[in-house]
Amino acid sequence: MKKLFAQRVLNNSNSYINDIFKNSANPQNISFAGGFPDQDLFPSDQLEEAYRTAIANSKPDIFQYQSVQGSPSLRQKIANRMIKNSGMMVSSENILLTQGGQQAIDLTAKLLLNKGDSIAVEAPTYMGALTAFDMYEPVYHEIPIDKDGMQIDILEQTLKKHPKIKLIYTIPDFQNPTGTLLTSERRKKMVELANKYDVMILEDSPYRELKFEGDSVPPVKYYDTEDRVIFISSFSKILSPALRTGWMIAGKGVMERLLDLKSATDLQSPAITLAAVDQYLSNNDIDQHIKEMTDVYRQKRNVMLSAIKRYFPKEITYTIPHGGFFVWVTLPQEINSTQLLIEKVLPDAHVAYVPSDSQYVSKKITNAFRLNYTGLNPTIIEEGIKKLGEVLRKEIQLVQLKIG
Ligand SMILES: Cc1ncc(COP(=O)(O)O)c(C=O)c1O
Repeated sequence: MKKLFAQRVLNNSNSYINDIFKNSANPQNISFAGGFPDQDLFPSDQLEEAYRTAIANSKPDIFQYQSVQGSPSLRQKIANRMIKNSGMMVSSENILLTQGGQQAIDLTAKLLLNKGDSIAVEAPTYMGALTAFDMYEPVYHEIPIDKDGMQIDILEQTLKKHPKIKLIYTIPDFQNPTGTLLTSERRKKMVELANKYDVMILEDSPYRELKFEGDSVPPVKYYDTEDRVIFISSFSKILSPALRTGWMIAGKGVMERLLDLKSATDLQSPAITLAAVDQYLSNNDIDQHIKEMTDVYRQKRNVMLSAIKRYFPKEITYTIPHGGFFVWVTLPQEINSTQLLIEKVLPDAHVAYVPSDSQYVSKKITNAFRLNYTGLNPTIIEEGIKKLGEVLRKEIQLVQLKIG
């Protein structure tokens, strides 16, 4: 049977990542591996009510096929929030409702990438995006991240050297997996480079509104002068991932083609869910909800960072996220984080993380890992970091003995 599968599918198996997630799903383990919101913060009752009201208010029409682009009323509400929160001029005509940010990434790849086309991605980056891009068989160019996000001088050198690059993929706000925030100077420069070298930018920004502290930075799209930036975001992290509701913002020419692709993929996002989200936004203060959520996540971030400070050996470095879901931890060069996870961290400490190699296209950085703090309660975070710290301490002593 397998021989009937398309070659691109056979070339891109993700069984390794699936195995890691299976292991970390074991309830015996404390898993920092997933990118899960805290489910106690879901506005479950309000969403239940929103579904009920949405159906009651518009049956039977709500059960009918609807437009490809998705509910005009919800698109207008999203446009209004984006104008208010980001200062961008957004029209509902430029918004396409998708099944989460993940579908938006896939549609963008479908729109732009022929087999062998080149794409610039952050290193490390969101592995779910790589899974989506892989199916279009691009050639990747990795642009390293520092504490201020993608290194724009390296992006410039790369664009100069590789004229076949068509797309820059960036997660500028509290990046998955490093938690870094791209500075406004770099955002502006990224758009200038896209104009100069004739490439598109995919700005993937699901964590943007989960900011713990610091000044607001405009989206990359804010600086867009030639409709080169496709902006995507989602209700997954600010309401619930089960809604599978995200949105893309694009210029007119791009939007026309995206509508064809969305239609080919699933005709439309589920109208009942879109109506329920719309109803939720009419009856509730989502800004207040996000504020409460952010307060809890800030506290969890603080618990994780102080536990790391207390329990991790001093040879280890880590990022300090000012929003979002993740801390990125770097070990001494000699330690392979995948091997350590499989041989010691899972069996001895019963803790899971996502090793670095799966988050680099080149798989070349093997001494780091991603930790999530939003999905666990503070006591468990402290306990897990303590257990992980014990394994790391022993491992570093071993390495030092070998070197010494
Ligand atoms: C950077 C990034 N983009 C996109 C997604 C996909 O999110 P969703 O499809 O749930 O909106 C995620 C999920 O973790 C993510 O971290």
